[in-house]
Amino acid sequence: MEKIIAPSVLAADFGNLQRDIEMVNQSKADWFHIDIMDGVFVPNISFGMPVLHTINQHAKKTLDVHLMIVDPDRYIQTFADLGTDILTVHYEACTHLHRSIQAIKAAGMKAGVALNPHTPIAVLEDIIVDLDLVCIMSVNPGFGGQSFIENTYKKVVQLKNLINFSNANTLIEIDGGITDKNAEKLIEAGADVLVAGSFVFKSENPTSTIENLKKITNK
Ligand code: DX5
Ligand code: ZN
Repeated sequence: MEKIIAPSVLAADFGNLQRDIEMVNQSKADWFHIDIMDGVFVPNISFGMPVLHTINQHAKKTLDVHLMIVDPDRYIQTFADLGTDILTVHYEACTHLHRSIQAIKAAGMKAGVALNPHTPIAVLEDIIVDLDLVCIMSVNPGFGGQSFIENTYKKVVQLKNLINFSNANTLIEIDGGITDKNAEKLIEAGADVLVAGSFVFKSENPTSTIENLKKITNK
């Protein structure tokens, strides 16, 4: 399967949001990764519904929404109405994860679960077959521009084994600190989707940075 590059809008220039969305539309990127932070689950607040509404008006690619919020069940229908294709909740924020996943699917979206760096893959054993995507956080969630945690490679291999063992059909997404230095090794370990924020948007030529990531990951 073709490997997926998902630029993280968190690192875009919000004063030129439409321009940056059009850049992603025209590029070789596959998805838009959208980080929603509530200042409670993570120590930062990003943006909310009005901004997602604007992104959805211009974006022509899959909307991959990463919720870093407590009690995400409150907003599942809202995110579906805002055009979300894949909705990812945090394992650490869901007391009744199975119910949350079923609710996301019932609202017509694909369902993902994100794991913080300290959360072991094994906690997903009894839910993996229900998941369309698992997002392994390779930084502590809350901010863009942090450095990649090396322990991630091991977790990707463990998750890949769990997916194969369970006959699940789950995409492995890696989020945080992705660059051209770790992309290839992550794909070799079993990753399907790479999220890249700062590395894309803070580069001199984001379009060619995306193209290069796409090349590295689809050799
Ligand atoms: C971190 C977010 C990431 C972030 C990645 O909490 O979930 O998606 O935007 O940004 P970079 O690629 O700059 O680490
Ligand atoms: Zn994210």
